[in-house]
Amino acid sequence: MRDDGDQRFTSATLALNNPGNYLVAVIGAGPAGLFAARQLASFGVSVVLINRDIAPGGLAEYGIFFDKVKMKEGLRKQFRQILDSPHIEYYGNVTVGQKNDLSLAEIRALGFQAVMVTVGAQGTKWLGLPGENMTGVFHSKEIVYHYNLLPPFSTQTFTIGNRVAVVGVGNVMLDIAHWLIRELKVGEVIAVARRGPAEVKFTKPEMAFVACNLDLAALDAEFVRVAPMMRAVGQDVDLAKAFILSALSKGLEPVSTTRFRFEFLASPSRMVGDERGVVHGLEVEDTTLVAGDGEPQAKRLGTKRILPVDTVIFCIGDKVDDNFGLPVRRNEFVKNPQPRFPIDGISYEAFDPDMNRAIDRMFVAGWSREASHGLVGVARRDGENGADAVWQYLQTLPTLNNVAGIKDEFHQHLNQLGKPIVTKEDWQRIDQAEQAESVRRGMEGFKFGTNEAMLAAIGKVLCVSR
Ligand SMILES: Cc1cc2nc3c(=O)[nH]c(=O)nc-3n(C[C@H](O)[C@H](O)[C@H](O)COP(=O)(O)OP(=O)(O)OC[C@H]3O[C@@H](n4cnc5c(N)ncnc54)[C@H](O)[C@@H]3O)c2cc1C
Ligand SMILES: NC(=O)c1ccc[n+]([C@@H]2O[C@H](COP(=O)([O-])OP(=O)(O)OC[C@H]3O[C@@H](n4cnc5c(N)ncnc54)[C@H](OP(=O)(O)O)[C@@H]3O)[C@@H](O)[C@H]2O)c1
Repeated sequence: MRDDGDQRFTSATLALNNPGNYLVAVIGAGPAGLFAARQLASFGVSVVLINRDIAPGGLAEYGIFFDKVKMKEGLRKQFRQILDSPHIEYYGNVTVGQKNDLSLAEIRALGFQAVMVTVGAQGTKWLGLPGENMTGVFHSKEIVYHYNLLPPFSTQTFTIGNRVAVVGVGNVMLDIAHWLIRELKVGEVIAVARRGPAEVKFTKPEMAFVACNLDLAALDAEFVRVAPMMRAVGQDVDLAKAFILSALSKGLEPVSTTRFRFEFLASPSRMVGDERGVVHGLEVEDTTLVAGDGEPQAKRLGTKRILPVDTVIFCIGDKVDDNFGLPVRRNEFVKNPQPRFPIDGISYEAFDPDMNRAIDRMFVAGWSREASHGLVGVARRDGENGADAVWQYLQTLPTLNNVAGIKDEFHQHLNQLGKPIVTKEDWQRIDQAEQAESVRRGMEGFKFGTNEAMLAAIGKVLCVSR
């Protein structure tokens, strides 16, 4: 990989008028990272924001369903304003990780006083069931990235059949169902839940996109089937049913004849496939509800049945990337159980459980701190709170008098990567090219679907064949 132009950075070309006296690297420019960067900049801290994707925004750009044009544009506007700050430098197309463009150790060795990790939850959470690698079995993450045009998923092929089981009953499941029902117009979508109707995690506005495709007779029958088990743990069956049906009055006019139904109290146990490894069924084990301290939990009953489907999509949340370079436990980066700088009692400090000590200068926030937790507003607040924790830590340190020198070394590092790095000025030009293309095509929210196209729009080249 090499670039074709002069893409070298020096602090002379990128020098800030007021560099600030503290220097922090924020890794990941999703909502948590962007708002953390803004918060730190508001304290006068110099922030270097490093992002894997060319475009900033994370799941606000590549997770939120593509037809929520106004919401996404509103967020982009806020992100543009954040990147306008003279205290914040942006470097897109740079992946941090043990075997990637830069490691955490390299970043620390350069002299950044703190590192805020806001890379989201990029690992793929599987249940470890037989058949997960069969053809026709997917994780929601890759599908969501595909239809929202995140390279390289944007150009990969995902062959979806006619009868689809979606595992999990959160809002991601409904986004996937929305795509299957309103875009692909498949024959049947079955939402598979290990617990009951009172434990669904989705919200009414998301249900409204697909509510009118519900097979109401099947829903009635399913409620009759699971009602005794709900009542046994004191649940109000009518209330749970009313919630699911409450979206009907605001339901969008159907555009397909897709049959949408639920299988409750059904825990996936394996994928069933043919000799070529192509899935043709999802085996589920019946469960019942067991009351506990909090919400009732699912207890397996040992009886199994097969749902005849040709596609299975797991929508069960995400986990952090095991190879990022921070210790991981239970799908999340480990946090210091006794934080030095808690905010509202929450620890934002990375921790090494083997050494039983905090990891020097390393903080986490957003979905990197708590995977798959909450909406953009929650990630934003978490980024800001994490930034407050970093700021408290910085107060314990002397200010730096060689910020420009450290940045210069960092820029040299980037230059040695031999790949195009996207600065905020580059990103502004890509953004403007996308807006111009939206106008030219008479469509809202156009975006380039490959890194090559984004870079070509600003005269950079990603790969040159020799
Ligand atoms: C399918 C889906 C739909 C959603 N829809 C909505 C919605 O409609 N409304 C709503 O309010 N919320 C929605 N959310 C939730 C919202 O997107 C998240 O709360 C929020 O984006 C999390 O922010 P974050 O910054 O922690 O992580 P992310 O948004 O995941 O951002 C992570 C950033 O880190 C970068 N990164 C990753 N790895 C590396 C690395 N190794 N090195 C450098 N950079 C890296 C990525 O490029 C990315 O920019 C949705 C979530 C999903 C999954
Ligand atoms: N449009 C929107 O506003 C929107 C869209 C997408 C996402 N989001 C937000 O993003 C966050 C993440 O959403 P999400 O849908 O990924 O997560 P979620 O709301 O936590 O739902 C995950 C689902 O997967 C199930 N699940 C988890 N582990 C399982 C296992 N081992 N076996 C079987 N089922 C399992 C859960 O069941 P249990 O309850 O039994 O664990 C739950 O039904 C949420 O805050 C959500 O609101 C918002």
